[in-house]
Amino acid sequence: MNERRSFDQPIAEVGNDRSPASEPAPRQMQAIVQHRYGTAEVLELQTVDRPEPGRNEVLIEVEAAGVDRGVWHLVTGLPYLVRLAGYGITKPKNPIPGLDVAGRIVAVGPDVTRFQPGDEVFGIAKGSYADYTAADENKLAHKPSTVTSQQAAVAAISGITALQALTDIGGVRDGQSVLVIGASGGVGTYAVQLAKAFGAIVTGASSAAKADLVRSIGADRVIDYAEEDFVADGPTYDLILDIGGRNSIRRLRRALQPAGTLVIVGGEGGGRWTGGVGRQLRAMLLSPFVGQRLTTFISTEHYTHIERLAAHIENGEVVPIVDRAFDLGDVPLALRELEAGRVRGKAVVGAAA
Ligand SMILES: NC(=O)c1ccc[n+]([C@@H]2O[C@H](COP(=O)([O-])OP(=O)(O)OC[C@H]3O[C@@H](n4cnc5c(N)ncnc54)[C@H](OP(=O)(O)O)[C@@H]3O)[C@@H](O)[C@H]2O)c1
Repeated sequence: MNERRSFDQPIAEVGNDRSPASEPAPRQMQAIVQHRYGTAEVLELQTVDRPEPGRNEVLIEVEAAGVDRGVWHLVTGLPYLVRLAGYGITKPKNPIPGLDVAGRIVAVGPDVTRFQPGDEVFGIAKGSYADYTAADENKLAHKPSTVTSQQAAVAAISGITALQALTDIGGVRDGQSVLVIGASGGVGTYAVQLAKAFGAIVTGASSAAKADLVRSIGADRVIDYAEEDFVADGPTYDLILDIGGRNSIRRLRRALQPAGTLVIVGGEGGGRWTGGVGRQLRAMLLSPFVGQRLTTFISTEHYTHIERLAAHIENGEVVPIVDRAFDLGDVPLALRELEAGRVRGKAVVGAAA
């Protein structure tokens, strides 16, 4: 176990297996950088200064970084609502994209209490498409020993969203009938596995091409959304997680039991300004006047949720689904694949560990 050091000690003093103390960690690093909003073509691999962690932050040597829809929104600055949320009006405030991360801590800020150099962690960072990244210690947990760095790197953002949607927001209970719309994607693959772990009977809706994946992670039934209408069975589900496809509230309600719960997690499209957030607002406004509970949420990025998720991964109830690994320089390609709907589960950047 490495001795705990604060960040104001030279980073080169912090030895680890791959970066021994005799070889100072470089002051510069490779990173994907964007200086304006846009699609994948605005991303470039560049040499930049390594970040320095703030008082409550740690510096992580990145082993792998996940690719998710949130990154796509931040790279493109779409919907514009994202920019108003504090990410930069005309260009990204943080020029290095990437949120999900897994790696090894190489330095800690002076107020960090939960980690020390040498710890293997996963969670949410401030620009993980780089050799090193800084992260708030409150957005990290110790990496489960049962999974690779690639698997850990695709877990936090999607996994805690699925966990909160099912439990804190959806109140899932043993024996309930749950429909996961968007079951083959980042959030959906966690939602299916977690719902099964909570004792639910799970139906997953996905494209035909990914039906085998959804079945393999435990769904009791798989609906090909292009061929089969989930509304056709009538008011069947106690809980619906609406993650993809932007179905109307009316249609979603028709598949929900009279006292069931609809949790709108997301869904692409819906306009450049708001991303169609009006659907979520309408659901919240309507909810008090109907027997069903219609709700939405934005996930809380806190280590308590990441640790809850880690426990489900550690005990084998949840296996992070890694589609393909991309080199750091191929982040633009990884984002294009995501946008084209060609990713099963999640894509990852970085080598296996
Ligand atoms: N509320 C929050 O805090 C929060 C957190 C994370 C993400 N989100 C949002 O949640 C959404 C999903 O994120 P993600 O990371 O899971 O994205 P993703 O990995 O791209 O997955 C999207 C899913 O939607 C499915 N889908 C696409 N078109 C569909 C249709 N017409 N009908 C039914 N399903 C369809 C896809 O199925 P196929 O690929 O099989 O076609 C896939 O399973 C995004 O909008 C994201 O911004 C919200």
